[in-house]
Amino acid sequence: MVRDLSGVLDAVLAGILVLDEEGRIELANSAACRIFETSAESACGLPVERLLGPDHAIAKLALGVLASGRAAVDSERRVERRRADAVVVDTSASPLFDDDQGISGVVLFLRDRTIQKQLEELVVERERLSAFGHIAAGIAHEVKNPLGGIRGAAEILGARTEDGRMQEAAKLVVREVDRIAALVDELMVFARGDEVHLAPVNIHRVLDHVLELLRMDASAPAVRVDRVFDPSIPELLADDRRLTQVFLNLAQNAVQAMGPEGGTLTIRTRMSLAHLLSTEVEGSVPLLRVTVADTGPGIAPDVLAELATPFFTTRAGGTGLGLAVSRHWVARHGGSLRIESTPGEGTAVQVALPLRRAS
Ligand SMILES: Nc1ncnc2c1ncn2[C@@H]1O[C@H](COP(=O)(O)OP(=O)(O)O)[C@@H](O)[C@H]1O
Ligand SMILES: [Mg+2]
Repeated sequence: MVRDLSGVLDAVLAGILVLDEEGRIELANSAACRIFETSAESACGLPVERLLGPDHAIAKLALGVLASGRAAVDSERRVERRRADAVVVDTSASPLFDDDQGISGVVLFLRDRTIQKQLEELVVERERLSAFGHIAAGIAHEVKNPLGGIRGAAEILGARTEDGRMQEAAKLVVREVDRIAALVDELMVFARGDEVHLAPVNIHRVLDHVLELLRMDASAPAVRVDRVFDPSIPELLADDRRLTQVFLNLAQNAVQAMGPEGGTLTIRTRMSLAHLLSTEVEGSVPLLRVTVADTGPGIAPDVLAELATPFFTTRAGGTGLGLAVSRHWVARHGGSLRIESTPGEGTAVQVALPLRRAS
């Protein structure tokens, strides 16, 4: 019995694309169609760079193999999609030869690594946060206790002395103690046991509140605000104070990144039905996705790698706690936070929250 080969290829979980000697698509199995959001009918006959875009690394890989006749690989490539979330794929490309050893085409084998990649990132993020949580809780405890005593003593000294310089010095101590206490309070966020208080929340109300707080900041430069809200999003069970803090941090970062010239701050909401990779939520839950995007300078790749580290800052006067605190509260809601940036174009921070219904 001769099987229909295309049925077999469609059953393969990896994407398979076969190109002819001119780089036109001869065959696309169903996994490849899913990755590139196309159908076999519309893909077949198209030059590969028409399907993927002329600068697409996978198209270049395929054309390179056609030209050289040597197999090549490409790993962890992000493929942006219009209707669904981007995927991360590993590709291997092998030349096909005709009877005379001429190159007659190329076969691309595409493995969808998205879920694996997300899981890896999630594990790293959780581990960092949990290690940091232990240390932070310990330090906070050790530091906060004596602060009250120091502050009280400085106040007494200041009140008892007639010497103006001594009074100034005592005031300085009080002021600095208050600053340290505020920092310690921020650190306490990472300590265990700080619960989120879940109640029905209208996410658009939270985001509008954040925009209002942002407008009240007189030092903020003129920023154009683009609200792209999906009105069909229902209320979700969440802690609105914490979410306000999260999105205020992200919006402030966006505004600060755009600098005195300003730019456009876009806040977008949508729902998606992706599986949530979280240990705190069972099974597949609809996700609420909120994107905070700016038209600032973007983030260089080496800086991007540091951003999961608390206290990392490139701003004079920054604490480097904004993103860490945001990540923490998003994680406490069972969600995730991802930063995407193209240097020179801007940054988009994507927050995914499980849409637990207030029922
Ligand atoms: N939207 C953004 N555009 C460019 N860089 C950003 C953006 N958001 C955060 N960053 C970078 O991340 C660093 C850490 O941010 P954050 O944790 O909020 O601390 P802080 O704002 O105190 O520096 C910033 O100093 C900046 O380098
Ligand atoms: Mg910040």
